[in-house]
Amino acid sequence: MKRILLSLSVIALASCVQQKNAEQWTDAEIEQKITEVLPQLTLEEKVAMCHAQSKFSTPGVARLGIPELWYSDGPHGVRMEINWDDWGHSHWTNDTATAFPVLTALASSFNPDLAYEYGNAVAEEALYRGKDVMLGPGVNIYRSPLNGRNFEYMGEDPFLAGQMAVPYIKGMQKNGVASCVKHFALNNQETWRTTVDVEVSERALREIYLPAFEAAVKEGNVWSIMGSYNLYNGQHCCHNAKLNSILRDEWGFDGCVITDWGGATDTKESAENGLDIEMGTWTNGLTASTKNAYDNYYLAQPYLEAIKKGEIDVKTLDAKVSNILRMMYRTNMAKTLKHGRKGNAEHIETALNIAREGIVLLKNDNKVLPLDKETTMKIAVIGENATRSMMGGGSSELKTFHEVSPLEGIKSHFTKADITYSMGYASGPEIYGWVLPSKLNADSLKRAALSTVKDADLVIYVGGLTKAHQQDCEGGDRVSMDLPFGQNELINDILAVNKNMVMVLVDGNAVTMPWIDNVPTIVEAWYGGCQAGNAIADVLCGDVNPSGKLPYTFPVKLTDNAAHSFESEEVFPGLAAENEAKNHKEYYKEDILVGYRWHETKNIKPLFAFGYGLSYTTFELSNISAKNSSKTISVKATVSNTGDREGAEVVQVYVGKQDSKVLRAVKELKGFKKTKLAAGEKAEVSIEIPVEKLAFWNEETKAWEVEKGKYNVYVGTASDNIAETIEISVD
Ligand code: BGC
Repeated sequence: MKRILLSLSVIALASCVQQKNAEQWTDAEIEQKITEVLPQLTLEEKVAMCHAQSKFSTPGVARLGIPELWYSDGPHGVRMEINWDDWGHSHWTNDTATAFPVLTALASSFNPDLAYEYGNAVAEEALYRGKDVMLGPGVNIYRSPLNGRNFEYMGEDPFLAGQMAVPYIKGMQKNGVASCVKHFALNNQETWRTTVDVEVSERALREIYLPAFEAAVKEGNVWSIMGSYNLYNGQHCCHNAKLNSILRDEWGFDGCVITDWGGATDTKESAENGLDIEMGTWTNGLTASTKNAYDNYYLAQPYLEAIKKGEIDVKTLDAKVSNILRMMYRTNMAKTLKHGRKGNAEHIETALNIAREGIVLLKNDNKVLPLDKETTMKIAVIGENATRSMMGGGSSELKTFHEVSPLEGIKSHFTKADITYSMGYASGPEIYGWVLPSKLNADSLKRAALSTVKDADLVIYVGGLTKAHQQDCEGGDRVSMDLPFGQNELINDILAVNKNMVMVLVDGNAVTMPWIDNVPTIVEAWYGGCQAGNAIADVLCGDVNPSGKLPYTFPVKLTDNAAHSFESEEVFPGLAAENEAKNHKEYYKEDILVGYRWHETKNIKPLFAFGYGLSYTTFELSNISAKNSSKTISVKATVSNTGDREGAEVVQVYVGKQDSKVLRAVKELKGFKKTKLAAGEKAEVSIEIPVEKLAFWNEETKAWEVEKGKYNVYVGTASDNIAETIEISVD
């Protein structure tokens, strides 16, 4: 009895800690407090608040009880502790975190509720680890399949990215943890990321590259935003006059602009173009370590001196400190603080659910999947990604408590099967993200795999990319869209021996599939976080019916992608600088036609289209209608599950203008809804689209404009699978 009472009280205590949310001051209270605190701060104290004191913190004002601010990466869970002055891991033993699936997997779920759960769980872990600002989510648009950071972003469609970012931010910030949406803006590649100067039409900027940030600010009320490394209009984005005026004057952002680490390059611009906090890659900013360290930052001593000399207005400083204090009153100086928790069952379940819902079934000829759990088949699992840890990838790395590998998941789900594993290929060991040539002999690995598959009833190939340099990793782009480490050759050799293959891709980017006609079953699993193996095996055995949809197009070949179709360095990755002082110019010549907008408009058939993904059941759309008033387009459809098992379908609504006076994409995503249905069940889905969302950016009038006339409303289950097209008229 005593023990029961004790454990009940432990549960009560735990839930009391868990349930206490951060209580917020009202906006008026915050502004009042800022007005009271500001005059009490010295010039030196104010300047100190505007730049780093360590790799991941900025100072408070100890004498007034104003706390330090602590930051951490990032989007996929709380990063391990990093040294005070350099990028080395601090090797603490208490800096673990739950590893969530990558944001690409989240986007594939097309489920905003999961994004809310994701943001909430990461924030609770951040609180437990003492972090006030979490550096994510990333919403840069998928422009090229070579971008090494695509896995950290939410795909090629600005509407989808915004719809997923907003609930992530809300779920996070309700805990009193600031989300720092990144990287603002046009950080769409890693090659020359600090020197590439992007030339893009204002229209493409407004229609493609900014809307997800705009949604984060206006709908998500995000409390901070990270300036990107690259330049736009010849000016670095961390202190870019044009971007700052869009952000603050047009969108009404009242939070903090934080540099990417080492992204500031000029004191006057930083002071005057809206940057609030300068963080650094080295202790003097970007290039080197020096003795007087953080004092050299652009927003440190040089800023203080310029203010003292009257060269820069002190008002710029008061504006920055007001923004910083505002962020503090929302986070570490909120009315009440929440304590957080980590590694708890709920967070792990959230990670598992996202991984499951993000998985995309690309091909399932002959209905090989789902596999019977009771199968006694001989299964050959081949491929390094069946066992390789996927916790790296640059700043989104973390130290997880545990990680269920695909092989472990497969073994624990198919207990009666005769499972043999062979590596097949080796990527080589990693040192600081760089892959070294493997010491293992490629021929022997292949021979072993071929002999393993020879007598197998089924081959489960688990390959793809790794989170290492020139793969899915910050700091470099991929050198090719092909699978690396000789995998294409290996796959062909395996197919020559055994054609009964289920391909599981573990990666965060599109890959070419030269063997596609010979592989009957393909599953895109992404990097699924700590529960990756269980999520994959749940899908393989049918405990989970796949419902993920691609958040970006898989082109057949690289040059089918818009940016690469020009086959010109000018368009990707930019022209080499003639000398160090000059930046790399890059021209986004594909303009607004990014991703499926390009494929649809230029009639280039993709390998797999945006929004595409199969299920183990079948769905039908019927009773489709679209009506509009002057303000809203109302789309309705009945979704029926016509198969024999529960599943979820995403109804997608695209809109395109007929006979536009400007070039427009054939269709653009304007709404979607995911619905779960039992076998035989049907449901009516309603999607409302504000007419103003049909606007294009008019370069001449420099304003949004909704053209009058006829529009096509496309209702379907993928960008290339439209059940019905309905014409509407907008007057
Ligand atoms: C990355 C950011 C990251 C920051 C701090 C930079 O290199 O671009 O995304 O948040 O480092 O780790």
